[in-house]
Amino acid sequence: MPRWSGGLQNVAKVTNHRHGKPAKVQIRQNVLDAVGRDVQVFDAFAGSGEMHREVWRKAGGYVGCDQKWFRDERCAYVADNRRVLRSIDLAPFSIFDFDAFGSPWEQMLIVAARRAVRPGERIGVVLTEGSMMKLKQGGIPKALGVAAGLTGKLSGLARWRDEIIERAIGGFAHRIGCAVDRRWQAAGKSAAQVLYIGLVLTGVSDAVERAADSDSRREETFAGLS
Ligand SMILES: C[S@@+](CC[C@H](N)C(=O)[O-])C[C@H]1O[C@@H](n2cnc3c(N)ncnc32)[C@H](O)[C@@H]1O
Repeated sequence: MPRWSGGLQNVAKVTNHRHGKPAKVQIRQNVLDAVGRDVQVFDAFAGSGEMHREVWRKAGGYVGCDQKWFRDERCAYVADNRRVLRSIDLAPFSIFDFDAFGSPWEQMLIVAARRAVRPGERIGVVLTEGSMMKLKQGGIPKALGVAAGLTGKLSGLARWRDEIIERAIGGFAHRIGCAVDRRWQAAGKSAAQVLYIGLVLTGVSDAVERAADSDSRREETFAGLS
């Protein structure tokens, strides 16, 4: 098992919730506290606004995005998030929330390609990783394969899910020019076996440092949900 360490107390408190909501809330709160409450959040899968009500409303700014329109006070794009992420200026946002039903990696790769992070700058990324069903069926979401650097036809990928996600996080960090400084994670216990992951990343000054740092996990937290 990986070398999980600090921050455990924050997520471990919420291990018994069937739906994972307490862990999702706690992870977002941890990321907001670590990056700074005055920052702006881009919530790419904004939904009905549960995470906004619980955490993101406390941030300095918030812009959501969802294919569906929800009648509430939030400022939000009603559109496919891939079009929006490819179109708008991402520089004002320091936290990106990818609470997808399935795989969030296509959206994450767009952000990695378009959001320049200055050396020393901190950003937060929160994701719900739901690729396990596809991996069990013998496939891999294309963007996850790209982020993880996996090419060719591969079989039995479900067994390697955790390693694939590690590689994909490292690949994302490398592409966006950052090192992973902090990480919180909780595992759902439903058949979908989703992972809830919060990352704090810091911009690094050159590619060599970036590659080295992205492979190391300095602080990580893991909690299973029952
Ligand atoms: C798990 S829900 C998000 C819940 C939300 N985080 C909350 O706090 O209420 C996923 C949402 O993503 C939206 N969605 C799925 N694919 C999308 C896309 N390509 N662009 C925008 N929204 C999308 C769905 O309409 C759904 O509301």
